[in-house]
Amino acid sequence: MSNTSTTNNSISIGGKSRYYEPAPHDIDVANFRKVVTSRRSVRKFTNKPIPQAVLDDCLDMALLAPCSSGLQQWEFYVVRSADKKAKLVKACMSQLAAKTAAELIVCVARTDRVDEFSRQMLREWPMPDVPKLVQRYYQLIPYNYAAGPMNSFAFAKKAAFALGGLVAPVPRGPYTKSEVELWAAKSTALACENLVLAFRAHGFDTCMMEGFDAVRVSKLLHLGDGAFPIMVIGAGERAEDGVFWPQVRFDRNLFVHEV
Ligand SMILES: Cc1cc2nc3c(=O)[nH]c(=O)nc-3n(C[C@H](O)[C@H](O)[C@H](O)COP(=O)(O)O)c2cc1C
Repeated sequence: MSNTSTTNNSISIGGKSRYYEPAPHDIDVANFRKVVTSRRSVRKFTNKPIPQAVLDDCLDMALLAPCSSGLQQWEFYVVRSADKKAKLVKACMSQLAAKTAAELIVCVARTDRVDEFSRQMLREWPMPDVPKLVQRYYQLIPYNYAAGPMNSFAFAKKAAFALGGLVAPVPRGPYTKSEVELWAAKSTALACENLVLAFRAHGFDTCMMEGFDAVRVSKLLHLGDGAFPIMVIGAGERAEDGVFWPQVRFDRNLFVHEV
């Protein structure tokens, strides 16, 4: 590597300046494993509150999850008002995890901010010049994730890509409204996982819940057409009898394949 040199955020490779962000090597795997293995779905919490600083830190870590095209398709509603919280508990079928949680967070996926966030990405690009390729990408990407009224764009795109796909690899979606929703839900779920692991790292616990009435939750939060709740996360301090049974995972050979 004799032809490389680094300064703070840049590295010169073969005379060309590149962005430089080295991987840290001092990470404690044992502690990370402890966070992952001690995370359980907790269905009963004590009444200990979660300090605001902890909650904020966990939400900030959630927002660092990877997301498709960098478009941050998520929103987190920390439901604080007593009236809304009571309605949300009810919408969660009055599950014990919801009833006893110190905090209830509704995790929402959004499909309707692609244009806005594509423009914002170009405005807030973290380097002085936006590379041509990046500019083109964020100018085109809104078309990629638009299904159109009654899926009208979706079927045209599907046909065009199916033809193109006969000769070369092409993206096979998302085309339809439900595929675009799946697209947004994927990235939002990754942020949810960051959130629950962050709580665990702070000594708190969580229960992800999809056992809720999505219509009632959307109404409660006044969610628009392009926004839908994918899960409600109850968080708090684990009660002594908060985990109901030992963790069950089947043989890894059912899931891990080397091909
Ligand atoms: C998307 C999702 C939705 C879930 N919904 C509920 C729920 O509504 N109520 C509940 O008690 N647990 C819910 N769970 C928790 C699962 O039942 C739990 O993760 C699973 O049984 C494995 O247990 P563990 O999380 O302790 O490893 C949900 C988990 C996920 C990932």
